[in-house]
Amino acid sequence: MSERKAVCPSFAIITCSDTRDLASDEAGQALEALIAAEGWECKSHVLVKDDRASIAEAIVAAADDIKADVVLTCGGSGLSLRDVTPEATQDVCERNVPGIAEAMRAHSLQITPFAMLSRALCMQRGRTLVINLPGSTKAAKENWEGIVSALPHAVSMMAGAGH
Ligand code: MTE
Repeated sequence: MSERKAVCPSFAIITCSDTRDLASDEAGQALEALIAAEGWECKSHVLVKDDRASIAEAIVAAADDIKADVVLTCGGSGLSLRDVTPEATQDVCERNVPGIAEAMRAHSLQITPFAMLSRALCMQRGRTLVINLPGSTKAAKENWEGIVSALPHAVSMMAGAGH
């Protein structure tokens, strides 16, 4: 059997909120801790308003300048008319990766029926995976739990490795 190189994905977190600042961004801080607990690197953590153009700009910076393998957005994926994170994601990403969003909802539906209210997307911008997570700390952690095991393989495939 051939040796598989261990993959250490790098991350960027973009919290999308009209009401928080970085100091009060408990969900973003919880995501940082979950990334660190895996031994992975979080390269940046920023907060932007629930504004489509600002979120899109932050995703482009995280993917193209910071070169994070995985961008986690946090918040803005529900049904409020201010929730525009999925639309911003679509604006700057090329390819849909529906299985990851499906896995988050399948996992979360075992915990709460409110999981069906998530409009979260997972999409690729080049070699970066952009994943929409919900904005509450509990929900962000639960959605992470549903997908974390597949992330190293996803990143190695984006880098050109086979199975
Ligand atoms: N997923 C889990 N695991 N737990 C939750 O409590 N809340 C849902 C959903 N997904 C929830 C969840 C709710 S109420 C909403 S509105 C959507 O996530 C989107 O959340 P957001 O608007 O904070 O992005």
